[in-house]
Amino acid sequence: MTKEQAQARIKELTEIIEQHNYNYYVLNQPVISDYEFDRLLEELISLEKLYPEFISSYSPSQRVGGQVTNEFLAVSHRYPMLSLGNTYSEGEIKDFDNRVRKILGEEPEYVCELKYDGVAISLLYEKGLLVRAVTRGDGTRGDDVTLNVKTIRSIPLRLRGNYPEVFEIRGEIYMPRFSFERLNQEREEIGEAPFANPRNAAAGSLKLQDSTEVARRGLDCFLYYLMTDSLPFDNHYDTLIAARSWGFRISDYMARCRNLNEVFAFIHEWEKTRLELPFDIDGVVIKVNHYKHQEILGFTAKSPRWAIAYKYKPESVSTRLLRITYQVGRTGAITPVAELDPVFLSGTTVKRASLHNADIIKSLDIHEGDFVFVEKGGEIIPKITGVDYTRRQPDAQPIVFITHCPECKTPLQRTPGEAAYYCTNDSQCPPQIKGRLEHFISRKAMNIESLGEGKIELLYDYGLVRKVSDFYHLTFDKLIGLQKTYPATDHTPARTVSFREKTVENILKGIEQSRQVPFPRVLYALGIRYVGETVAAKLAKHYLSIENLLMASFEELVMVDEIGEKIAESIIQTLHRPDMLEIIEELKAAGVQLAMEPEKTQNLSHTFMGKLIVVSGDFGTPQRRKEIEELVVAHGGKLASSVSAKTSFIVAGDNMGPSKREKALQLGIPILTEEQFLLLLNPS
Ligand code: IVH
Repeated sequence: MTKEQAQARIKELTEIIEQHNYNYYVLNQPVISDYEFDRLLEELISLEKLYPEFISSYSPSQRVGGQVTNEFLAVSHRYPMLSLGNTYSEGEIKDFDNRVRKILGEEPEYVCELKYDGVAISLLYEKGLLVRAVTRGDGTRGDDVTLNVKTIRSIPLRLRGNYPEVFEIRGEIYMPRFSFERLNQEREEIGEAPFANPRNAAAGSLKLQDSTEVARRGLDCFLYYLMTDSLPFDNHYDTLIAARSWGFRISDYMARCRNLNEVFAFIHEWEKTRLELPFDIDGVVIKVNHYKHQEILGFTAKSPRWAIAYKYKPESVSTRLLRITYQVGRTGAITPVAELDPVFLSGTTVKRASLHNADIIKSLDIHEGDFVFVEKGGEIIPKITGVDYTRRQPDAQPIVFITHCPECKTPLQRTPGEAAYYCTNDSQCPPQIKGRLEHFISRKAMNIESLGEGKIELLYDYGLVRKVSDFYHLTFDKLIGLQKTYPATDHTPARTVSFREKTVENILKGIEQSRQVPFPRVLYALGIRYVGETVAAKLAKHYLSIENLLMASFEELVMVDEIGEKIAESIIQTLHRPDMLEIIEELKAAGVQLAMEPEKTQNLSHTFMGKLIVVSGDFGTPQRRKEIEELVVAHGGKLASSVSAKTSFIVAGDNMGPSKREKALQLGIPILTEEQFLLLLNPS
């Protein structure tokens, strides 16, 4: 492909992908599969890698992230970002309507919209291109989060149609519930504290430094307010409909209302229906539709007089706190749990609620025996939102967070900057040991289903397994006939676990099959903190075997795509511990997969053994470049994406990145042509 052809194809792909994004996010009518979409994006990305000079600021490739914001720049808003007056009372909505009608001297038209529960954002477009995205901040100044916002696919990077030359549009970035649940599940799997709700998760994600991670978080956005000096329409509703045609995601769920009855009908309808939405809303926003009316009504210092938010009361009940128990997770993190006097709330009986961490207990100032308010928001797990101080006993004592592990009595430790306390006795503390065993057999790890349902507990109690490699020493004779009755606890009924012939056969079969589980999942199963499924897959692909990974230094690890310092440190610390080395040896002896499939890694030679090689630039076709990379690996070398003092040499095609070249020259790293590189393999 010539340079001109590549440029034309990049332009074409950009337009095709933009159209599919629009079909998907704005029209809700995708016409191609996700797979086909990803293929188009991949093609664009690989062409742009070859011709970086053709990467535009609005290229859909920006959405996969890759850029890092070291510090979010504070910027002033052109127009302050105000908030809305809000109320929980229908009476106050009537007062609002009376006020509006009195000032205007006529009947206004209202627009009702959903009140999305996320983070407010202001987007600046100039000549149809997104130039800046700023958070609300204190209303006057916010943070520039443009790089992160560009990863949100429903936010157009380039507009279509007949849009104003310069304008600002505001909206709400939120995390859909399924993304939120997926994220929290992943966080728990890698031993990180979960987010309390989708709003916090959205806010936290927007302020991540690594935009690649933001891209993976599944954020979304609705726009609801447009500002420019010269608006082409005379009312808010028509403006939003036009904005939709320019490529913005505008909710379908808004209504023009001629009077208060229609406003209340909208409010009542969404009170019930909101639970079926895939995202959280916390109310309805009522806006006066016509701009001439909005102008007359104007603003107070804090909010527009032409709009008000009606907030839904989250269903909340008060109940007595019986006590706080403390759970120890597989990474040793301590989670306080409130045990409650059972109470009925939104269709289920609630007996427990997570308190997340010590800071939350402190900020709620909970005392023993307090009556607490329990709420179910969008989340499944109920939360404690406050304390009924009027019902506190005069002699009630504040809750003091435990100082020692409830299971093994080790003093707890807290890393500065982290919310959770940890029990550091990971080798002896029973729930940590059992947690690691449970994690090892779990579905996404070794998937030994036949060991589920209380069987780990029994094996642990009989002293048959302590570390994950012990599973591979189990035999029919050791297992047959084992039995134990567990008394009822607060949360589980009494039950008997017993190992009969069929059970034992299934267990052994499950363990046998797990020997075939591919290396990436085995690596994940080892339960290294911060190494979730995706990171494990990345590491496995890069290092190909556990030996290589064990040899990697901290500096090498952080050079791998998506591996940050925290992960690298955890890998080094965990893998090199003597007990872990012993487990790895035993797993290896048991025939568990500790390297990638042989056919993929089969070394043609050891020519590049121990060498770290960077391939950069244009080799005619993307395929050729891939072939060169494959040759590096097939001959025992390792690939790196950036140049460092550790780089052995660079294979450079045309148009190698200037910064790479400069760095290589600085560090005195050899730059080889394709021919010179091939000569190393065939030195004849
Ligand atoms: S209009 C000048 N419309 O609620 C008024 N705000 O409590 C601009 N919000 O700061 C706001 N959904 O972050 C508007 N449909 C909607 C909204 C909405 C959510 C947020 C917004 C605002 C906050 C006020």
